[in-house]
Amino acid sequence: MDSPELTPTSAGTGISPLEKELSKRLTFAIISHPDAGKTTITEKLLFFGGAIHMAGAVKSKKNARGTVSDFMKMEQERGISISTSVMGFDYRERRVNLLDTPGHADFSEDTYRTLTAVDSTLMVIDSVKGVEERTRKLCEICRMRKTPIITFLNKFDREGKEPIELLDEVESELFIKACPMSWPVGQGRGFRGVYSIYEKRLILFDAHGWQDEDSSVEIRDLNDPVLEQKVGKTLAEKLKEELELVQGVYPVFDRNAYLEGTITPLFFGSALNNFGVRELLDCFVDIAPPPVPRQADEREVKPSEQKFSGLVFKIHANLDPKHRDRIAFLRICSGTFERNKMYHHVRTGKSFRSSNPTAFMAQNREIIDEAYPGDIIGLHDTGTLKIGDTITEGETLHFTGIPSFSPQIFNKVINLDPLKGKQLAKGLEQLSEEGVVQLFTKETTNEKVLGVVGQLQFEVIKYRLEEEYKAVCRFEPVEYGGAVWIDGPEKALDNFLKFNMQHTAFDKDKGRVYMYRNEWALERTRAEYKDLKFFSTSEMDHSA
Ligand code: G4P
Repeated sequence: MDSPELTPTSAGTGISPLEKELSKRLTFAIISHPDAGKTTITEKLLFFGGAIHMAGAVKSKKNARGTVSDFMKMEQERGISISTSVMGFDYRERRVNLLDTPGHADFSEDTYRTLTAVDSTLMVIDSVKGVEERTRKLCEICRMRKTPIITFLNKFDREGKEPIELLDEVESELFIKACPMSWPVGQGRGFRGVYSIYEKRLILFDAHGWQDEDSSVEIRDLNDPVLEQKVGKTLAEKLKEELELVQGVYPVFDRNAYLEGTITPLFFGSALNNFGVRELLDCFVDIAPPPVPRQADEREVKPSEQKFSGLVFKIHANLDPKHRDRIAFLRICSGTFERNKMYHHVRTGKSFRSSNPTAFMAQNREIIDEAYPGDIIGLHDTGTLKIGDTITEGETLHFTGIPSFSPQIFNKVINLDPLKGKQLAKGLEQLSEEGVVQLFTKETTNEKVLGVVGQLQFEVIKYRLEEEYKAVCRFEPVEYGGAVWIDGPEKALDNFLKFNMQHTAFDKDKGRVYMYRNEWALERTRAEYKDLKFFSTSEMDHSA
């Protein structure tokens, strides 16, 4: 492969218009365990970005006001954010794209796919509860992909775990080095503020929110009497002691280590009281990576390449049930995307053109003429695009990083209305293309088996089949505990199928999977068929 063309530079500046645009982009997602404060912090970030004007504009899931991040009625009813959406806002001459992820573990695949489309993440931890299960899982994905993480230890206005204990948890449970950028002064009812280690500034806490000029004082030397005047003798002594310890134990901030994902800069605050969030955002804008290169099967693609390429990482269907419209979320990976330009849809080999691509600004969608690397745009789709599709200017590229993972719960589908068989089949096919469910077709019987990560997904599927496709069905559990993708020499595969075909099926892309009852059964099969390879994801890059 010839080395790709890079963009021409504007005369004299040494930096091309494309590079200038892309260097402004910061595309990230917030990861957290439910209730840690993701929605609250999103709202504050949008507020600082001027994208919303009142508190409560995002956070309305519990009182059913119109939401920015939740599309479906059901999400509002249940108070969970199922879908992923994008909220763009401008801050300090940067275009920040915040991708929302579902908090509920049952929709984790959606979150994993979203993490493929971002360049960095913000991890929110509830300081009362410490590191929780979902955070552990999501952080693992980030580590696998070397995605940089900034950490916000939230709810310091409540009596919680000691800061040192929290840092220990982050390091021992998330396997990442902590690098405190600030340090709390007091906690819970005695919370007085934070000391910014890097700005050498004390920021005083005001429970009702909006810090003004007076609430921040520069303190270059901790022996400055102003410290004691502001927080009292006991807390001033404690801060000095703790900072001495912290500076001896934790590394000094090193941007490269952060960009490589080996350290996480860490902030303390209280999102609800809007405390510590602006400092966090300022630091994020200073250190977070602009669009990074993306790996395709064929080669690495740099954002500054002149030719456009993009990846579909999410499909959202039936926003308006009256029209079968779908929105495909496309991450621009390189070059400039232009409205109405003919592109190449790699999977089908057909041309692709969009006359009304939309950008997602915090509370509305608007049609755009151009988009740059790091941007997420919405493409109106009538059923041609699938998750994982690549669109280019002609080159054959397959971006990696959107695998299917093994589901944990499997159900057979029983059609309850024989006259609606077609609708049911269509609905299931579309929901699987959207990534709501994994659809397997048994090799022997053609029977459809649905695989999900969490039980709640079945409820969503049932609801959507009825609402959107007028299809009624029942689910019946089948006793499988997992699925692996299999590959190997033809003879070995034939031999395997001879004895195991009743447990094999094809996934939506005709990949062959073996569904097993439990880990023990998988172990036995693996030992018996040594010539075969068993993979835990459809991309077949991680052995099961
Ligand atoms: P999530 O999106 O991660 O699920 O969390 P969310 O922001 O919804 O926050 C979960 C709960 O934690 C909310 O309370 C929220 O008000 C509270 N919270 C968020 N940040 C802070 C903080 O800094 N300090 C304190 N004390 N609480 C915080 P809720 O009672 O569940 O909801 P609501 O009645 O406030 O809407």
